[in-house]
Amino acid sequence: MNKLILIFTAALAISCGDNKKEKKSDMQIGTQVEESTPAATKDEVIDDSVANVTITGNDQMKFNKVEIRVKAGQKVKLTLQHVGKMEKNIMGHNWALLAKDADMAAIGQAAAEAADTDYIPASLKDQIIVHTKMLGGGESDTIEFEAPEPGTYTFICTFPGHYALMQGKFIVE
Ligand code: CU
Repeated sequence: MNKLILIFTAALAISCGDNKKEKKSDMQIGTQVEESTPAATKDEVIDDSVANVTITGNDQMKFNKVEIRVKAGQKVKLTLQHVGKMEKNIMGHNWALLAKDADMAAIGQAAAEAADTDYIPASLKDQIIVHTKMLGGGESDTIEFEAPEPGTYTFICTFPGHYALMQGKFIVE
């Protein structure tokens, strides 16, 4: 920390000089920042057996991710956060991972009539690998599951009418 402040002070002093010197001092600061970054990154990837994923849904009926990548064999710890304010019965969101050969439209339509089971259709449950709870604004839910076999899967929100906008790819590498 002291080192950083020193460099910063030095940079400020140098920047009183000509432009060339100023540019050079910027580069030095950049190097300093880069040096401290690898340590933080290393901490994040130490446990490669778990893929931590956070995805949000909002009041505009949008997920913040259209693609999620994990590796085969990983345990996936996925958190869905509803960052909106609207209630669950108006703008509910869940995150449902569909089987590889699932018929998204059929699931979406069946789900719309499955209010009693939080819009997870019992008749097509075998086409849904895993799903979070249905959430209202401000709520979140975390699920853990094993990444399925390599391939490209589809995830959707099964709230009535949402899957058209709220869908994305879940890629297992
Ligand atoms: Cu939704």
